[in-house]
Order: sequence, then structure tokens, then C-alpha cells
Amino acid sequence: MKHVIDSGGRRVACHVDGAAAGLPLVLLHGFCEDASVWDGFLPFLQDIRLIRVDLPGFGASEPAPANGMTNYAEALRAVLDALAVDTCVLVGHSMGGYAALEFAEKNPQRLAGLGLFHSHPFEDGPERKEARRRGIEMLQSGKKDLYVAQLFPGLFPEAYVRDNPALLEALIENGKRQPVEGIIAALENMIARKDHRDTLRHAGFPVLWILGELDAIVPASQALQAAVSLDVADVHILPGIGHMGMFEAPEKCLGIVRSFWDFCNRT
Ligand code: MLT
Repeated sequence: MKHVIDSGGRRVACHVDGAAAGLPLVLLHGFCEDASVWDGFLPFLQDIRLIRVDLPGFGASEPAPANGMTNYAEALRAVLDALAVDTCVLVGHSMGGYAALEFAEKNPQRLAGLGLFHSHPFEDGPERKEARRRGIEMLQSGKKDLYVAQLFPGLFPEAYVRDNPALLEALIENGKRQPVEGIIAALENMIARKDHRDTLRHAGFPVLWILGELDAIVPASQALQAAVSLDVADVHILPGIGHMGMFEAPEKCLGIVRSFWDFCNRT
């Protein structure tokens, strides 16, 4: 069921499914996507209270001005407050993981567990920032469709792109539907976001990490440097998988997320 709530005067949409009670599992999507990226998981998580959020500027949520990951974290807090959720297991895919880390820093007591799904706590290096700035220029010059069409193939291994044209087309079409202000704000937010290794180092909750061996955006070797400092970490490196495990290895990823939720629910 879709809910629309207010966060700082702006509309934030979320989708609540599954069980009516119990520890919620909250899922955050990545860049140029919306909550629908998790649709394939829905039928298999019906016994859990599942909350999927459209981050500001994506799906049915209004764009918010760029301010690092703060507006995303505040939108999530507004959603949890509106749904009377005290604590949850929060899993963020890629940019959703960056937002989840910002939320974790400000609201650690509200987390029973944090999942980084093809994500990491490091800030952008100079080259990544520069590439994002070039993306912003392209978007500002009216080339949103081209930008989005070039983005998605780079998230998967080449062979997967070749063998799954319909999925790529669907993701690209959905990406093109996202408002340009939301996409630009997301790029600015990612440029401005801070390093969250300390947030993880001081985490009082278990941390899940799902990494893809062939992920060009979040290299497993880099993410693992931060994983070694954690007290309780459940780390999975998926062989042959890129940046989009929910599509490339859905059963495996579902099983990992479910057993992490089970663990957090028991402890
Ligand atoms: C994402 O999938 O959210 C983005 O690729 C993250 C990024 O560009 O760092």
C-alpha cells in the first residue's frame, strides 16, 4: 500500500507491504531508480513488514534541494515516524546505502541492523566527482534520455547486458521517467557526501554487506577495507555478479537479506 507523507514540506512516498506487525525491513533504492527496483522481492517477503521508500526526487517523492545525504536521511526518518516505526532493519542499494549510512549516523538507536547492498562508506574520489559534474552538465543541457541510456549498461557485466535486453530497456525507461531535478540533486548529493567509515566503526548494530565480484561501481576490494573494522559483519561477495544483484542473482540476494533480517530479529 502506498503512503504519502510530509518531510520538511515536501511529499515523500513509501510502499508498505507484507506483515502488519513485527520488525520492519526497509529497502532504499539506488541512483535513477525508485522503490520498484525491489518489486521482484515482494512475493517472497510477505511474512515481514516491508517498507520501500522512494527517495526525494525519485518515484512519487518530490525533489529536495541538494544537501549531501541529509534530505534523504530526513525523508526516511519522516517515513518511520509517520508509520510509528521505532526500530527497523535498513538495507540500501548503492546510493540508498549512502543515504542509509547518513541515517545510521544520526539515528543509530533506530537500527536493528544495516545492510549495504553494493554500497560502501567512502566519499567520492576526485575522478568520480568530476564524472558526476560532467553528468550534471549533460543533464542541464537537456540530454536526460541519453544520460540514462548510457548509465544502466555500466551497472551490469557485459554478458548480462547482452542476454537481458528487456530488463535493461525497462530500467532505462523507468530512469527516463525520473525528474531531471531529482537526478541532478542526487549527483550533487553524492559529490557532497561524507566518509562514513566512523559511522560503521561505532555501529552498535549488525552490518550486512552484499558485494559483486564484477561490480565496477563498488569494487569489493575497496569495500572490504571498511568491513574489517566491524564487530558484527555478515559479508558476501557474489561471484560473477556486477552492481545489480537483485536482478542478477535474485534468489541468492533474497536469501541473504532474509537471513540477516532473521538474525537481527532474534538479537
Ligand atoms: C547507484 O547505483 O546508486 C550509483 O551507481 C551509486 C554511485 O554512483 O556511486
